[in-house]
Amino acid sequence: MTWSGYAIPFNRPCFVGNEQVYMAKAIANGQISGDGEFTRRCHAFLEKEIGVTKALLTTSCTHALEMAALLLDIRPGDEVIVPSFTFVSTVNAFVLRGARPVFIDIRPDTLNLDESRLERLISPHTKVIVPVHYAGVGCEMDAILAVAGRHGIPVVEDNAHGLLGRYKGRRLGSFGCLATQSFHETKNFTCGEGGALLINDFRYVERAEILREKGTNRSQVFRGQADKYSWIDVGSSYLPSDLLAAFLLAQFEARDYIQAQRRRLWEFYATHLCDWALQHDISLPSIPAHCEQPYHMFYLLMPSLAARQALIDRLKARRILAVFHYLPLHLSAMGRRFGGQLGDCPVTESISDRLVRLPFYIGLSKADQASVVAAITDLK
Ligand SMILES: Cc1ncc(COP(=O)(O)O)c(C=O)c1O
Repeated sequence: MTWSGYAIPFNRPCFVGNEQVYMAKAIANGQISGDGEFTRRCHAFLEKEIGVTKALLTTSCTHALEMAALLLDIRPGDEVIVPSFTFVSTVNAFVLRGARPVFIDIRPDTLNLDESRLERLISPHTKVIVPVHYAGVGCEMDAILAVAGRHGIPVVEDNAHGLLGRYKGRRLGSFGCLATQSFHETKNFTCGEGGALLINDFRYVERAEILREKGTNRSQVFRGQADKYSWIDVGSSYLPSDLLAAFLLAQFEARDYIQAQRRRLWEFYATHLCDWALQHDISLPSIPAHCEQPYHMFYLLMPSLAARQALIDRLKARRILAVFHYLPLHLSAMGRRFGGQLGDCPVTESISDRLVRLPFYIGLSKADQASVVAAITDLK
């Protein structure tokens, strides 16, 4: 999607200052391939902030999810329980290995998978449950882990939106045996395209390093733990250039600035839209008291598809870009091949029609944000 042509785009990547300095340092270091100084520093940041055993930068969240599917040894005929209201990669990573998606509906408040429906979807073929923390608001992890634990099924958190979010005081990304992050340019912390695999179960660490390095033990050779590297497993090239890690580290180091700015943006919309929303039967994001959100996005839930489209059109006429989000995966061409039908996930179907995301990026001035609010509240 291109943002050009709009006075107020939906997103603009933010540059916080040190990106170019660190990239120049990576060049001066003489290492721009993967796993150099900046990659190691990004790993240390993620391990410390999220409290995970091991973090590995990847070329995208999609690739981190693919690594998770390989690590869990997903095979044809296995089932993966995923929300239908998510990005295609949450599902595709497992389908690539031959798994069949079993779509679970979402809660109408947080738009996260509805944990009360989980247990009845489990079958002898279920090999993994993948909760997605939508907008970085934590899923009901206590209930999800209780069901998963009773059936001995691993949980992989898709935390693409949720870096630095918390559920009951604990960081998102620290609950599943594996979790994934995205650093795509729409995320709070970015390097253009990028991701990370977070590993909470140490038994996956050694194989994860091998899968990420083309199926070789090159990481051990770099650490002096082996004297030559060889092909020992399947794998691919999932590690990003140290130039990208340099960019990302600059963003990580500006976390206080980034998060304070995003919080300001989020609270401005919430404060200035809440009365209007109440009067027009429109919902704002719902954040349970036990969740700390990372201020990833701001959305409105309109009363109908027609009302959502009218709002997008009205904003567009003022050169403001607001966008909808996921289309139900069970109703996509691919989802239908797995048996998806209208009515399977009614909450997802309704939310997908009614949700609109508002412009949200560092650099969106107060005046511009006020224009967005004014354009929205013109609704009679
Ligand atoms: C929930 C979710 N998972 C995974 C992804 C894929 O992320 P990436 O673009 O880093 O592969 C996205 C993309 O925005 C997403 O929204």
